[in-house]
Amino acid sequence: MASFISPIRYENEKMYLLDQTLLPGQEVYLEIENKKDLWDAIYELKVRGAPAIGVAAAYGIYVCTRDIMAVNFEDFCGKFHEVKEYLASSRPTAVNLFWALNRMEEKLLSLAGDRDYGSWEGEQVHIKQMLKEEAEKIYQEDVKACYEMGRNGLSLLKPGMGILTHCNAGTIATAKYGTCLAPLYLGHEQGYDFKVFADETRPLLQGARLTAWELNKAGIDVTLICDNMASIVMKNGWINAVVVGCDRMAANGDGANKIGTSGVAILAKEYGIPFYMFVPTSTIDLNTPTGKDIHIEERKGEEVYKMWYEKPMAPEGIKTYNPAFDVTDARYITAVVTEKGVVYPPYDVNLPKVLK
Ligand code: MRU
Repeated sequence: MASFISPIRYENEKMYLLDQTLLPGQEVYLEIENKKDLWDAIYELKVRGAPAIGVAAAYGIYVCTRDIMAVNFEDFCGKFHEVKEYLASSRPTAVNLFWALNRMEEKLLSLAGDRDYGSWEGEQVHIKQMLKEEAEKIYQEDVKACYEMGRNGLSLLKPGMGILTHCNAGTIATAKYGTCLAPLYLGHEQGYDFKVFADETRPLLQGARLTAWELNKAGIDVTLICDNMASIVMKNGWINAVVVGCDRMAANGDGANKIGTSGVAILAKEYGIPFYMFVPTSTIDLNTPTGKDIHIEERKGEEVYKMWYEKPMAPEGIKTYNPAFDVTDARYITAVVTEKGVVYPPYDVNLPKVLK
């Protein structure tokens, strides 16, 4: 099995994030010491990818609240909630951020009855230890979910297939293995000889900088293409399946993912190519009825016109529109791969079943 680089490390009571904005040039880990460090790291995409954001938020809220010296349980919960709200404002679309923060808060609230520690000081130490353990659990659950998604996804693929992917839903977007790249790693280990095509993924180049980097490093055959080349590789007959990740799947099966994903799905339908969206159950949001209800993050225009080149790519001050995600309608998604199995339409009926 390839050696997997982790985007989040917790070692000797310190939290580190791999700065993904420096990839593929440099592998640098940043220490996260306070809530501002974490907010900036999420907003600036130093840590990115829905599951990785969730895991970082879980460890992060523990790290950012472990120095709180509250006067009682209610005071601790109030201070914890303030940090939670602040971190939750860093990015709006990936539901894993909110999922992980809510789960940490639920854990905290569930400790309300644990008053058997002699003193509030003793109870406070216990609460912090429990929060740390919950973050570790979230991390380990994500490793396991990604591995299972890899196995489930591999059941849909055959040796020698040409696979197109968009953005990066690989090991560095999760705790380990990735979501839609997990079956490629497992298949590679079993000699499947996939031919992967990675869309560069404008404007922030997650496909070029991250997917091409991690697959290449693992020895998987990967060809980098510009986003506008997806149609030609499909028409050439080089693509047998499309695999992508997801930031939030609504109850009806509409899935938000990196901008450009919906165009790839529409093309795949036109060419009769199966389109698989990899969605851990932590990314399914039954409280969001349809894709129209998903808040799509809009980012600053500089990312579109002057991010990666020294020379201006467009006239200074040009008007821009920079949505970070789009929604692929459920009707374009051949199947949803989760850690609990492969889900087929009708999604409004079958997604709730997988969450039980
Ligand atoms: O803006 P990003 O890089 O956080 O967007 C990431 C994606 O769109 C991924 O495909 C998605 O989060 C799934 S990661 C397993």
